[in-house]
Amino acid sequence: MPVRPLIAGNWKMHGLAAQLAEIEAISAFVQVRRPAADVLICVPATLISRAASIAGGRIAVGGEDCHAQASGAFTGDCSADMLKDAGATTVIVGHSERREYHGETDAMVAAKAGAARRSGVAAIICIGETQAQREAGNTLAACGRQIAGSLPADVAQSGSIAIAYEPLWAIGSGHVPVPAQIIEVHRHIRECLMDIAGASGADIRILYGGSVRSDNVQSILSLANVDGVLIGGASLLAADFDAVLRTLPVMVQEPSRADPPRSPR
Ligand code: 13P
Repeated sequence: MPVRPLIAGNWKMHGLAAQLAEIEAISAFVQVRRPAADVLICVPATLISRAASIAGGRIAVGGEDCHAQASGAFTGDCSADMLKDAGATTVIVGHSERREYHGETDAMVAAKAGAARRSGVAAIICIGETQAQREAGNTLAACGRQIAGSLPADVAQSGSIAIAYEPLWAIGSGHVPVPAQIIEVHRHIRECLMDIAGASGADIRILYGGSVRSDNVQSILSLANVDGVLIGGASLLAADFDAVLRTLPVMVQEPSRADPPRSPR
């Protein structure tokens, strides 16, 4: 199982040049605080290049979608190669807002995740049930179907993918599933991943997303098979995102090579 959680932000369609100050503030906070986590902010394509140069490697910067092709006559789209060229390490694919407003199917999401892999960009593949599916008792079936359909073909080799479980009814609503609900779905996701990818399914991070904030992140991260979080609203302002990061343990300072080994007294 991965040891360091991934704390990822998703700015969605928010952010002009003025908001790059938030990236600088978050990066500076991470540099000083050294939270024991991988920190990533996914921003609109227009900001990736500037955000990546401001972050300077202190945090990672990602995109929010990519096309399944590397290049071509697809007006208005961005390929994973382009995101990488701009400085993105990661891309979110299949977010429920893309599935809903852009008609993205599982097959399209799988193709995008495959394109990201070919470009050397990590993919965060989003899944999650609707309120109606949960009320009908179809949560695990719906999530299992989305996983089976949305993973790239050679997932065992792909290494750098993560799944984000984002129940649609929890996104931006302030309603978070109770721990037992998160545990149940994440366990099911893990089983699906191991069915599909074999033992390497144990190393794929499973993130939770939906109304994560500083006051609930610790309890969510403590749950079995929760390897990180994907945060929308609370990632937009450094004050809110830093408050999330402040709840994490900090990294123990590694002794530098220049430090002589201590002799016993
Ligand atoms: P909120 O954190 O605003 O609920 O958004 C979750 C989300 O959709 C992240 O991708």
